[in-house]
Amino acid sequence: MKAIILAGGSGTRLYPVTLVINKHFLPIYNKPMIYYPLSLVMLLGIKDVIFVVNPSDLNTFKSMFGDGSKLGMNIQYVIQNKPNGLAEGLILAEDFIKDDTVCYILGDNIFFGHDIVKIMKQAKEEVEKNGGAYVFGYYVKDPERFGVVEFDEEGNVISIEEKPKKPKSNYAIVGLYFYDKEAVEIAKNVKPSNRGELEITSVNEEYLKKGKLKVKLLGRGFAWFDAGTHDSFLEAGEFVATIEKRTGLMIGCIEEIAYKNGWITKDQLLELAKPLKKTDYGKYLLEIAGE
Ligand code: DAU
Repeated sequence: MKAIILAGGSGTRLYPVTLVINKHFLPIYNKPMIYYPLSLVMLLGIKDVIFVVNPSDLNTFKSMFGDGSKLGMNIQYVIQNKPNGLAEGLILAEDFIKDDTVCYILGDNIFFGHDIVKIMKQAKEEVEKNGGAYVFGYYVKDPERFGVVEFDEEGNVISIEEKPKKPKSNYAIVGLYFYDKEAVEIAKNVKPSNRGELEITSVNEEYLKKGKLKVKLLGRGFAWFDAGTHDSFLEAGEFVATIEKRTGLMIGCIEEIAYKNGWITKDQLLELAKPLKKTDYGKYLLEIAGE
């Protein structure tokens, strides 16, 4: 499986903060927002990643991650000229995906929870083995901000709608999706929505129509943030700070994950820690390396 991380968009909901800086570089507590979705992909054992980026951000992304080799990964980039919608990312990444399955994750989504990696790995394996699409629902107070899933009494999915004015449930579809190789062709046939975007929800609806969509609900033991508004951005940062201070362990530390996955050696980890050694982040990396 390969991963696509969506890191374009205009970030209008975070204006004026994002007038001149892409939101994915902003700090969620002690590291850039984009580290969090990347770290989840890494925890799933996925080494091949493509970032979908705005033309003006390409060089910044490249100076942040390069070709991925410092993390023992293969990282590529594709430019999205305009924020035409999430489903366009699948089309833009077609040559990278080829015939593989895809983990599709939004650059402003942050996940934390007991067994989250185990649950996401099960979804990954299900799609690798049996195809189809696998997505997750999460109970929220403000479903009108999201893609919303409706269930019947037996728990079967009846509908999925993007930002409905009258949501049929409180379950938002979170920004992490697993797809088989059909997703690219499905995305190519998506028509722009009323707000003029190629919606990822339309891709999910198509899988639903074919009877190939699985939805798993994430319960109370999980925290999920879409850090795309001022409030959720702040809440995500506070959450990460609280957990990290309490446990002494970091969330979203990409160098730590690369090392623990066996993708980089201790010497490589020490090299990455060097320029950061005056910070708590750098000291943490040295601790991981046993120095
Ligand atoms: O966070 C979960 C929600 O994300 C889902 O419930 C919705 O179904 C889905 O449409 C999406 O809604 P948002 O309105 O929150 O999406 P947003 O415009 O914030 O974009 C999500 C990420 O994708 C963000 O990191 C920016 C990036 N993006 C967005 C667009 C529209 C792109 O890279 N290209 C784009 O064209």
